[in-house]
Amino acid sequence: MLNELLNPSLFYHDSAFDELYPEHIRKLSQMHWTPVEIAKIAGNFLAVPNTRVLDIGSGVGKFCITAGFFHPETTFSGIEQRRELYNFAETAKAGLDLPNVTFTHGNLTELEFNNYDHFYFYNPFYENIEPDSRIDYAVETSFELYDQYSRLVYQMLAEKPSKTRLVTFHTPGGQVPPGYQLVNNSYSRLLKMWIKE
Ligand SMILES: C[S@@+](CC[C@H](N)C(=O)[O-])C[C@H]1O[C@@H](n2cnc3c(N)ncnc32)[C@H](O)[C@@H]1O
Repeated sequence: MLNELLNPSLFYHDSAFDELYPEHIRKLSQMHWTPVEIAKIAGNFLAVPNTRVLDIGSGVGKFCITAGFFHPETTFSGIEQRRELYNFAETAKAGLDLPNVTFTHGNLTELEFNNYDHFYFYNPFYENIEPDSRIDYAVETSFELYDQYSRLVYQMLAEKPSKTRLVTFHTPGGQVPPGYQLVNNSYSRLLKMWIKE
C-alpha cells in the first residue's frame, strides 16, 4: 500500500519534487540528481520485497525518496560523502513518512556492502575525471580516487551472489563486472538494468 500521508503529486514532475530543496540545490538537479521518472522506473526494477537497495552516492536523496515512496516493502538506503547534501536528504525525508528510507553521511569506502542486496549507480565518480561536472569544492577529486572508487564498486559487485540487481544511469558498461546480464536498455542507452547470472 502506498504511503497515504504523502501527496503523490510530489512525484509527477521534477519541478514539484525539487521544491523540497533550496534554490542552489534545485539548480544542480538537471545535471546531478536522478529525474523522478527515472527513479520510478529504476525503483520498480530494484524493489524486490524485503530486500535492501543501496544508492551509491545518494546526493540529496532524490532516488531513495522516490523509489521508497512507491515501494514501502523494500528498504532504500543512500550513502553520501558531502555533509551538506546528506543534510538536505535528511531534511527532505523529515517532512515525509518514509521509514523504509535511510541516509548515511560518509565515504563508500567505509561501507559494509554485505548489508545491501541490490544497487543503484548514477555515475557518482565522474567528477573525479571531468572537472566541468563538479558539484562543488567540498571534497577532493582526482584520477586516483576515480580508480580507487571504481575498483571498489566493481569488486563488490563481482562478489555479489546470483540474482543481484543493478541499475546504472549515465554509466559506461565497463564499470559493470562480467556476469551481469543487461536485461533492459532505454533512454538512449543511458538507463541500464542488470541482473547477475
Ligand atoms: C551524480 S550524483 C547522484 C546523486 C543521487 N544518486 C541521485 O541519483 O539523485 C553522485 C553523488 O555521489 C556522491 N559520491 C561520489 N563519490 C562518493 C564516495 N566515494 N562516497 C560517497 N558518496 C560519493 C557525490 O558527492 C554525489 O552527491
